[in-house]
Amino acid sequence: MIQTLESNVLLDCSFDLPCGATIKNRLLKSAMSDGLADGEGNPTECQIRLYQRWAEGGVGLSIVGEVQVDPNYPESPGNIVLGDHSNYESLQALTSRASINGAHIWAQLGHAGALAYQPIRQLKGPSTLKIGEFECLGMSEEEVSCLPDQYASAAKIAKKAGFTGVQIHADHGFLLSQFLSPLFNRRADKYGGSVEARSKIVVEIISKVRAMVGGAFPISIKMNSSDQLEGGLTQEEALGVVQVLNHTTVDLIEISGGSYFPGAKASSDRASSGAYYIDFAMRARSITNKPLALTGGFKECTQALNVMSSKMVDFIGLGRVLILKPELPTDWLHGINTIPEFPRFESPPEGGMTAWYTMALARLGNVDEHNNEPDLQTAIDDYEERSRKQASLWVAMFQDIK
Ligand SMILES: Cc1cc2nc3c(=O)[nH]c(=O)nc-3n(C[C@H](O)[C@H](O)[C@H](O)COP(=O)(O)O)c2cc1C
Repeated sequence: MIQTLESNVLLDCSFDLPCGATIKNRLLKSAMSDGLADGEGNPTECQIRLYQRWAEGGVGLSIVGEVQVDPNYPESPGNIVLGDHSNYESLQALTSRASINGAHIWAQLGHAGALAYQPIRQLKGPSTLKIGEFECLGMSEEEVSCLPDQYASAAKIAKKAGFTGVQIHADHGFLLSQFLSPLFNRRADKYGGSVEARSKIVVEIISKVRAMVGGAFPISIKMNSSDQLEGGLTQEEALGVVQVLNHTTVDLIEISGGSYFPGAKASSDRASSGAYYIDFAMRARSITNKPLALTGGFKECTQALNVMSSKMVDFIGLGRVLILKPELPTDWLHGINTIPEFPRFESPPEGGMTAWYTMALARLGNVDEHNNEPDLQTAIDDYEERSRKQASLWVAMFQDIK
């Protein structure tokens, strides 16, 4: 369905971040782990083509999901890793083709902690835990104190490789979101307890990354408006985190929500249409002057325009719509309300929809993208098979890194 709109100027105007960098429009391609790296932590041609397509599609800012700071705790063995082994040639091919048309390309710096890809490593989060079937070890204080340097050296490599900014990944249940969440963080030392104490490691990481990349380089954070888990981070507490972030040098706070913790609600598995975390964004706006982005549930241009016209956020974050239609920003920026057709499956298993979208990313990066869309089970099987192959390469590559 196509409708013409008049207020598209709300999306098609540039924005100056506090660090001085300018983003050419208000559409942000939210981080989506594509699992398309080569199994040894470096980008592939398929992955580069995927990001090029998003840049050609007109997005102002594109964020590469789950770029790992520590190969021991990846979200997937198809992640990029920034470290001594990094191949600058392929990273620079990625950043240069992903930034054509003046798009910004940022690396989302991640560490999966207690949600790491398990065949690679024993799970380790802020605290030793057993919740139902789920078990993980807790990090020692010494291990926690190494994190800021790990993020800072990954940020240094990202900058050298041509990324135009970085995002600290503190949402969806991965390590830093575990630190923020009272469900996962039961620590009795300086990194646990009050919201401020649980946020401490995030603040330390931001400071170290800032010192490494300098004042003019964008640093963002993506955080949960709540974990949507019993005993997890509530909206009230997440607002406390925003207040803490007010005193840091972050240039952009991206708000999302949900968790990939087993049994939890992930926003990428949700089917409904319309901004998911709008109430929280409104409350966040009232307590911070930091630039804000809102991600989750946008399926129509009209929804994005309504949110932008309220001035509650500065950017609209898009995930699944950009898998279904990478050229959608050009339409929306020209006032054409292109609405992609969303796949519907009867009772998908937990994580099934996200696996389906992940394999759709591979089709988008491949030359033969017009191949038939797989059914849900085939996509899940292909996803698991690809991860198994990448995992054996990963183990061989990184086995000596402790
Ligand atoms: C295939 C897929 C992979 C994702 N990987 C990441 C990720 O690496 N980092 C992240 O912060 N969010 C990730 N997400 C969540 C999205 O960034 C976004 O927050 C979520 O899909 C809701 O936005 P949407 O309704 O526009 O899809 C992923 C989502 C999908 C569909």
